[in-house]
Amino acid sequence: MIALGSDHAGFELKQAIIKHLEERKIEYKDYGPFSADSVDYAVYAEKTAKGVIGGECELGILCCGTGVGISIAANKVRGIRACCCSDKFSAEMTRLHNDANMLCLGGRVVTPEQAIELVDIFLDTPFSGEERHARRIAQITELEERF
Ligand code: RB5
Repeated sequence: MIALGSDHAGFELKQAIIKHLEERKIEYKDYGPFSADSVDYAVYAEKTAKGVIGGECELGILCCGTGVGISIAANKVRGIRACCCSDKFSAEMTRLHNDANMLCLGGRVVTPEQAIELVDIFLDTPFSGEERHARRIAQITELEERF
C-alpha cells in the first residue's frame, strides 16, 4: 500500500501518479487534497507521513511545487526518511542506501513522465541491507531521538 499526498502545486502530479499506480495495479491510499484549491503542504505531509509510520502504508509519495517544502515537513515526523529528488540515480540510491520511506516530487520541476519513471524506480528498488548503510540509518534515528 502506497501513501499519497500533495499540496495544490503537486495536485496534478499526484493525479498522474494515481493513474500510473492503478495501471500497475498497485494499491494506494490518497491522503488528499482532493481538489487543486490552495492548501498548506505541511498539513498533507503530516497526514500522509502518519500513514507510513502507522504501518497502514509501506512507502509514501508526496508532491508539492518543488518537492522541497513537503519533504522538509515530512522529515519532521519521527521515523520518516523523505527524499526530494528529480533524477533517477538519486531515486534508486535513496532506497538502496538510505532506505527512504517517502519520495517527494516537484510538480513544477519534473514532468509527469519523469515523475512516473522516478516513482517506478523508487517502488521497485529494495534497501540493500548492507551493514554500513544500516549503521548510518541507525545514526539518523539516534540523531532524531536526541533532538
Ligand atoms: C506553493 O506555492 C509552493 O510554495 C509549494 O508547493 C512548494 O513548492 C514549497 O516548497
